Amino acid sequence: MDRVESLLSQMTLEEKVGQMTQVAVDLIMEGEPYNMKLPLKIQPDKLEKVVKKYKVGSILNTPSGVYVGRKQWHEIMQAIQNTAAENRLKIPVLYGIDAIHGANYCEGATLFPQPVAMAASWNLDLAKRIAEITAYEAKSASFHWNFSPAMDIGRNPLWPRMWESFGEDVFLNEKMGLVTVEGYQGNNPAAKDKMAACLKHFTGYGLPQSGKDRTPAYIPERQLREYFLPAYEANFDAGAMTVMVCSGEINGVPVHASKRILTDILRKEMGFEGMVVSDWEDVKYLYTRHLVAHDYKEAVKISVEAGIDMCMTAMDLEFADHLLELVKEGAISEKRIDESVRRILRLKEQLGLFEKSVFEPNDYPDFGSEKFAAVSLQAAKESLVLLKNEKNTLPLSKNTKVLVCGPTANNLRSLNGGWTFTWQGERADQIEKKENTILAAIQKTIGAANVQYEKGTDFFKEENIDAAVKAAAQAEAIVVCLGETSYTEQMGSFNDLDLPDAQVKLVEALSKTGKTLIVVLAEGRPQVIRRIEPQSSAILGAFLPGMKGGDAIASVLFGDFNPCGKLPFTYPAYSNNLTTYDHKYTEEVLTNELYGPYWDPQYEFGFGKSYTDFEYSNLKISGKEFSKTDKIEIAVDVKNTGKMAGKEVVHLFVRDLVASVTPPVKRLRGFEKIELKPGETKTVKFQISPADLAFVGIDNQWVVEPGTFRVMIEKLSAEFDIE
Ligand code: BGC
Repeated sequence: MDRVESLLSQMTLEEKVGQMTQVAVDLIMEGEPYNMKLPLKIQPDKLEKVVKKYKVGSILNTPSGVYVGRKQWHEIMQAIQNTAAENRLKIPVLYGIDAIHGANYCEGATLFPQPVAMAASWNLDLAKRIAEITAYEAKSASFHWNFSPAMDIGRNPLWPRMWESFGEDVFLNEKMGLVTVEGYQGNNPAAKDKMAACLKHFTGYGLPQSGKDRTPAYIPERQLREYFLPAYEANFDAGAMTVMVCSGEINGVPVHASKRILTDILRKEMGFEGMVVSDWEDVKYLYTRHLVAHDYKEAVKISVEAGIDMCMTAMDLEFADHLLELVKEGAISEKRIDESVRRILRLKEQLGLFEKSVFEPNDYPDFGSEKFAAVSLQAAKESLVLLKNEKNTLPLSKNTKVLVCGPTANNLRSLNGGWTFTWQGERADQIEKKENTILAAIQKTIGAANVQYEKGTDFFKEENIDAAVKAAAQAEAIVVCLGETSYTEQMGSFNDLDLPDAQVKLVEALSKTGKTLIVVLAEGRPQVIRRIEPQSSAILGAFLPGMKGGDAIASVLFGDFNPCGKLPFTYPAYSNNLTTYDHKYTEEVLTNELYGPYWDPQYEFGFGKSYTDFEYSNLKISGKEFSKTDKIEIAVDVKNTGKMAGKEVVHLFVRDLVASVTPPVKRLRGFEKIELKPGETKTVKFQISPADLAFVGIDNQWVVEPGTFRVMIEKLSAEFDIE
C-alpha cells in the first residue's frame, strides 16, 4: 500500500475533517484576528488547538497587516511543523500564500510587475523566470503553495481584480498561465526551489455584470466554454496541482455551491485530479451573503457535496465541527470525505512534505539579490506600453527641465498595486525605502536640479493645481502622473471608469500653459482618458510594473529603453462602451449617426508604440486548402526600418469568415516577441492546427466548421480554406 492509502486507512474521521480545514495564521498568533499583537508571537495554546486538537491540513496567509522577515517565518514554520510532528500520524501542515508578484509577504523578497503588466510585456521567458524566482524566494520562507496564477480572464475593466489576470484574452491568459505554473512547479514541485501552483478563481470570476467584486456573473454555456474554461483546462493538462473556487455566482448559483462546475465540469469533463480549495470564508458566505443555505452547517454540506476538498475557513474552526457532524449523521458519506483527504495527502506527498516541510533561509543565497532585481527591472521595462507619441515627443533629452505632477508621481503603491507586503498594498511606501518612485527615478536620471515637483492633485481631490501651473513656467516639459492607488477585491470596486475629475482638471490646467505634456498612467485597469488624450503629446501606460516601475518609466521617458509593451486589454474610450477586441461583427460594422461607430476604443488590444518602426511584409500561408488533420504554417517578415534597436510583439489573429454561431471578428492564435537591430529583418513563423480554429457550436460542443479563414498579422491578411 502506498503512503497515502496507508495513512488514509489509519485516519479517524476527526483527522480527516482536520485535513480538509485551512485556517489563517492569525489563529495561532497572539492577539486578535485582524489585530495582531506586536511583536508577533505564536501563542502556544492556540497552536495546540489548531494543529493538535483540530489537526488542520493547512495554514495560510501572513498575520494580518504584519510584514514578516524570513527568520521569523522560519520560527513560525518550525513551530507549526514540530507541533504537527507530535500528532499520531505526523502529517505535515501545508502552508499557502498569495505570492502573485514575488514572495511579497516575506521581508526583502524581490517584487515584480503584476500579472497584467507581465501580460503587457508579452514575454513568456520573463514571465517564467519571475515565477521561478518567486518560488525560490517563497520556498526560502517555507511557503509550499502559491495561490497564483489567476486564470480569470479580465473581460470587464471595472472589475477590481482585472490586474491580477493576464488581461482580456483567453489565449494570452493560457500561455502566461502555462509558463507561470512551470516556473512555480518545475518538474519536481518538491525541489527546494519549487512550490505548488493554484489556479484561481474557478471560474467566471472576471465578468461580474456590475463590474464590482464578488457580484453576479451571467455567463451562457457557450461563453463559459469558449472563454472561461480553456485557460484552466490547458493548465490542468500541464500539471497545475490545485485550483481555488470563484467567490462569485454564475447565473444565480454561487460557484462554491455548484456541483455542475466543481464536479461535473472540473472533475468529470476536464479530468482534474488535483486539490480544490475554497476561497476565503466562502463556504460561510453561502449562508451569510449568497443566502442559499440557512446556516453554516448547511453551507458546509452544500459546498462539500458540490466538490470542494479543502475549506479556507480562514478565521474559524467550525467547518471541521460541522463536517464531522454531517458525516456522523450520515448526511455526507465517509467515502466522499476520503476522496478529498486522498487528494490533500497526495498533494503533500508530491510536495515532499513528509520528508521536508521546513526550509533553511540560509540555503537561498540569491534571495533578494541584485541578480533577481535586474530581472524585475527588465520585466518592468518590457511591461510599459507607449500609447501615444505625437511628433516623437519621447524620448526627452536628459537636459530637459521637467515638472513632475500628479497623484501617482511620488508613491510606490500606484506602481505595485495590492498583494504588496499587505493585502491592499497600502504600506508599500512606509516599508520600502530603497526603491524609486517615478519622481525619484526621474531625478536620478536627469539630476535633481532639472526636476521640479508639484503634486497638483490627489486621486479624487484637488490639492494645489495653481501651484503646478505656476511651476510649469520654469519647465520645458511636464510629466503628469495619473492613475490609481493600490487596491484589491472589494476595496477596489468603484462606480466610474472615467479618470476622476480632479486629475482631468490638472491636465486641463497644465495644458493651457502650452508646455509639452506627457501623461504617465499608473493604474490597474484602463481608466477612461478620452477627455485628456488630445491635450497630451505622449502617453505611457504603466499597468502595475512593480517595485522597479519608477526606474523603468524614467528609462523610457529619457530614451535609455525602447518601449515594447502592448496592451493585453482593450483600452476603452467610453465607460459605457466596454467591448472586447474579440467582439462580433455587429459590434463593429454598425454606426450611430450622432455618436459614431459602435467599435470605438481609445486603443486596441495588442496596441503599443516603439521608438523605432517595424515594417511587415511577405505574409505567407503554407497552402490554400487544408484538411482537418493538417498543420497550417504561417510566416511573415518583420523589418526594423527605424534607427533604434527594438523589440516587437508579432500577433497572429484569425477570423472565421462565416460560421453557424456568429464568429468573432478576430481571435488571437499566436504571438512572438522578437528583437531587431536597425535594418534587420526576421521571419516569424507560426504553426496552427484546425483545432485552433474551433469554436463552441450550436450544441455547446467544440467544432471546426469547413470554410474560409482569414489570417491577420498587423495590417496584412491572407485567407485559406478548411475542407
Ligand atoms: C482572495 C484570493 C486569495 C485568498 C487568500 C481571498 O480573499 O479572493 O485570491 O488567494 O483570499 O488570501
